[in-house]
Amino acid sequence: MAEHTTTHPVGGTPPGFLEPLELLYEEAGQPRFGLPPALATAYGGDLGFTLPCVYANFVASIDGVVALGPEYPSSGSAISGRKTADRFVMGLLRACADAILIGAGTLRSTPRHRWTPDHVCPQAAPDFAELRRSLRRATQPELVVVTASGDVPTEHPALQSGALVATTLDGAGRLDGRLPAACTLLTAGEGSTLRMADVLAALHTHGHTAVLTEGGPHLIGHLLGEGLVDEVFLTTSPVLAGRTDDTSRPGLIAGLELLPNHPAWTDLISARQRDSYLFLRYRLRTPRAHADPQSALAN
Ligand SMILES: NC(=O)c1ccc[n+]([C@@H]2O[C@H](COP(=O)([O-])OP(=O)(O)OC[C@H]3O[C@@H](n4cnc5c(N)ncnc54)[C@H](OP(=O)(O)O)[C@@H]3O)[C@@H](O)[C@H]2O)c1
Repeated sequence: MAEHTTTHPVGGTPPGFLEPLELLYEEAGQPRFGLPPALATAYGGDLGFTLPCVYANFVASIDGVVALGPEYPSSGSAISGRKTADRFVMGLLRACADAILIGAGTLRSTPRHRWTPDHVCPQAAPDFAELRRSLRRATQPELVVVTASGDVPTEHPALQSGALVATTLDGAGRLDGRLPAACTLLTAGEGSTLRMADVLAALHTHGHTAVLTEGGPHLIGHLLGEGLVDEVFLTTSPVLAGRTDDTSRPGLIAGLELLPNHPAWTDLISARQRDSYLFLRYRLRTPRAHADPQSALAN
């Protein structure tokens, strides 16, 4: 049963720099982690997940563009306009996660990024830390980079500070001896791409059940293709990005065709607003294909 909800700050002291999101709608009966008061006020309510859970976060323009093309690094920031409210939601979703999954395309296109809550919203760092303590999460979520080719920039600061890198045998050969010591390499037995169910099973083995994917359109295509995504958080940024006929500016999914034969219907779980930005949370209707605990990945 769904219900409409109006905005009521839930208590606590709102951080002066984070104006609360306005809650427009929330489905009744959502799991609640019990956010620290400052985060709950800024988010316009509580947040939680039923674990295990794979949840994606994207920002898209009104016309559905999520990446501007290889010639434009950090295109997510360009699309969001680095809006504080969007960066707060990014940080909050990261703060809830055991692991953050990205594809090598996203790593290559954002050379200075760090996939931590604090990097995108330093103002809320103490509150994110308090949330992680209350959830018994590690100090920071673990970064997981998926690459078939092994073509990853090993000097990237996110790798230098430690990550799991999941790759094929060919990729492992290419990376041999090149990864920073802080990284762990996971390799698949066979094939030119990884079965994402194997990657998730390996993450479960590491104790990671709350998995946020911030990968780009290709990674989410692989995850959706295997039926592994539970929820999608989508920020609609009030901007038109446009496309020329001969450039590639993908929407949320690449490399996977769903409609008309395999529609992936969703239900809206919540809708929030700040200025002209919309923060939408959807649940995939198709039951999730649970990861096979007998992972084919080895480290
Ligand atoms: N707007 C947003 O919210 C948002 C979010 C994320 C990213 N982006 C943007 O998206 C663009 C990058 O798009 P993308 O689709 O290239 O990013 P991506 O999906 O993160 O990376 C794609 C790469 O990941 C690896 N990969 C994915 N699935 C794999 C599998 N099953 N097995 C093995 N390897 C796998 C491959 O790496 P190899 O090529 O190394 O084999 C593949 O080329 C960037 O411009 C980025 O800024 C936007």
